[in-house]
Amino acid sequence: MTHLDAKALSLLPADMAAACERFPSALSACANLDALNRLKGTYTGRDGSFAAQLMESLKVAPKAKKRDLGAVINGLKKNWEEALKTRQTELETEKKQLDSTKNAWDATLPPPMPPAGALHPLNRLMDRLVDVFRPLGYHVEEGPEVETEEHNFDGLNIPEDHPARGTADTFYLAQHSELLLRTHTSPVQVRVLKRLAPELEARGGIRFLAPGRVYRKDEIDPTHSPMFHQVEGMLVGKGIGMHHLKGTLAYAMKALFGQNADVRFRPSYFPFVEPGCEMDVHCPLCGGSGCRVCKGSGWVEILGAGLIHPNVLRIAGIDPEIWSGFAFGMGVERTAMMVSQTPDLRLFFENDQRFLKAMGGLD
Ligand code: PHE
Repeated sequence: MTHLDAKALSLLPADMAAACERFPSALSACANLDALNRLKGTYTGRDGSFAAQLMESLKVAPKAKKRDLGAVINGLKKNWEEALKTRQTELETEKKQLDSTKNAWDATLPPPMPPAGALHPLNRLMDRLVDVFRPLGYHVEEGPEVETEEHNFDGLNIPEDHPARGTADTFYLAQHSELLLRTHTSPVQVRVLKRLAPELEARGGIRFLAPGRVYRKDEIDPTHSPMFHQVEGMLVGKGIGMHHLKGTLAYAMKALFGQNADVRFRPSYFPFVEPGCEMDVHCPLCGGSGCRVCKGSGWVEILGAGLIHPNVLRIAGIDPEIWSGFAFGMGVERTAMMVSQTPDLRLFFENDQRFLKAMGGLD
């Protein structure tokens, strides 16, 4: 490569001669392209390199020597450049081979683990609610999302002319106008009461929770969605009054929101309860000072409730003179927003992994 004969070497300054001698071993010591590029800079770079210094020495050389020295320097430069180029090609080929084996499929490796799935925060909240009520003797019931008017309205003492029955609020099935998407989980009350009426005495009462999806023609905004979730709760027994309802819900809310959970009950109207009420929780998002979620009031309504209307029991074949009870229907999204301090319920439906991961703390 760059073996100089004694005559050529004698023409060079001593330090340059030494650098020339070192070149072959320095080149083969370059194990990768980065090292090679550094060596290239040292020997043939534009400024300060050995080649540049040699060109400088040529300028000041005595006239008689100039010709021979010039030839030596040019020969050297050419040799260096060629040798560097050859080594570069070698290293590039090596790198390509290494990269391709890196991506190669190795049949002996264990298969990559698929990312672990997780329950949706809304499902986890419903599970938690079930866990709160289970020790109180409540079991879980389910009903269909496509319901009949009979279960969704008639059995719940909702009059023929009630506005909720209209097509402005309720999704009816185009092919079967008597079928609809249930507007609340209360039709599960009707189904369970009818089914268990014959064994009511033997069972000594009924207690159940019914979590599920419900549908209403609502525009999507931070607090509304045409599909959302409710958890229905119902208890039938003897001599049941509002105190049982309040005590049960106050207990459940403390279990859910913590011992300092502040709730309030307001009188309200639902055709299937008498008396009826709504329960609010103190807004944890703003601490009660008023925000978008609580609409400035400091309180958020999360459930409707009341004592079961005698007509509902009667329609199911249960004697309201003997039996009484309470029912409640809780909005799951509203509650999840409170528990997790999420200001916009749409986040629960967009399945943004970052949100879902952050919601890992909901449990
Ligand atoms: N079904 C009512 C609603 O959707 C809630 C409710 C359930 C009220 C049970 C009273 C008793 O808003």
